[in-house]
Amino acid sequence: MRRVPISKVKQGMKVAKCIYSANGSILIRPGVGVSSVMVKRLKQLGFPAIYVDDGLLSDIEIDEVITEQTRVMANTLVHQVMSSRANKLPDKKGEEFKDVITKMIEDIMDNPFSMAQLSDINTIDNYTFNHSVNVCILSLLTGKELGLRRDQLMELGMGAMLHDVGKVVVPIHILNKPGRLTEQEFQEVQKHPRDGCSIISSLKGIGDGASQVVLEHHERYDGSGYPNGYSEDKISIYSKIAAVADVFDAVTSDRVYRKSMQPDKGLGIIMNGAGSQFDFKVIQCFYKRVAVYPSGSYIRLSNGEIAGVVETPTGLPLNPTVRVISTTEEGMLKQPFERRLAEELTITVKELVPDHEVEKLIATGKIYKNGSSQMEKLTNNNG
Ligand SMILES: [Fe+2]
Repeated sequence: MRRVPISKVKQGMKVAKCIYSANGSILIRPGVGVSSVMVKRLKQLGFPAIYVDDGLLSDIEIDEVITEQTRVMANTLVHQVMSSRANKLPDKKGEEFKDVITKMIEDIMDNPFSMAQLSDINTIDNYTFNHSVNVCILSLLTGKELGLRRDQLMELGMGAMLHDVGKVVVPIHILNKPGRLTEQEFQEVQKHPRDGCSIISSLKGIGDGASQVVLEHHERYDGSGYPNGYSEDKISIYSKIAAVADVFDAVTSDRVYRKSMQPDKGLGIIMNGAGSQFDFKVIQCFYKRVAVYPSGSYIRLSNGEIAGVVETPTGLPLNPTVRVISTTEEGMLKQPFERRLAEELTITVKELVPDHEVEKLIATGKIYKNGSSQMEKLTNNNG
């Protein structure tokens, strides 16, 4: 699977990851070959890139944490709520959220080895609902790892799904501003936790734990967050979990003002905040449930080989099973082979290979170092 900028997507390329529309429904399913009309439409809708199947890792099954049906239900519900820009939600919406989160918890409980994989690619329009659903999934996985009970997972899930609902009151031009926010604009944004709490107060069946997540997801362990500057045990465990999930999904998603970070770099940001911004115990659990090297992505190994990630053994996020597609001596291999890094302890993962470098490798059969514009050629197929 490879992330290809929309300008480089060619007719016939096969979609590798579901593409969702702004109202949460499915636009293109995996396995479909794109037509020139589809590419034009995706460009119009503002998709910066899509994941395509490059034929090298097409047999690898990416184990999604929740079923596609549950994701569409969740996406659609969040979209309805966020696009209505209502100051109060109808009380019956609470039941709909409960139903969808019950399904998410069931999906997660049904699959004991599930790990969160790559985020979906967002447009400005679908960032908000994708983000809400992703934060909910990441929070539930972390909560499960922490040993929370089902009723506690429900509180956590409700809060995580609705954590940014207060943003409906923030002017759209501020939310979508590509540059740095002014002090005044930032103050507007900082109102969203309190506004969110007021918006959900009318929902039937909303518990204190969920309201706490909406209010406290920008609080930080060391007291540096907002709106109340709470620290350590003043912040609920649910909010501590959602804070980690929120930051991780935000930095690994495309935003108006910057491109997405690879998951290993995103996890680096979270790890750097351990014990200061984030609760260490929460991070330990989060780390076990997020694929640092997602299935279907490409990595560089310590011996210079480039490999596709096949799967990650539970509890060993840094030791995935990989398929080597290229070596420094031979360039692209005619017959890729597998390495189980959990058993080959002398070889480690160096980094995720950037998309543009993988594209170049596949097109030319050459391995480049660092993937910068001034690439250093190490080897190629033709000697
Ligand atoms: Fe927020």
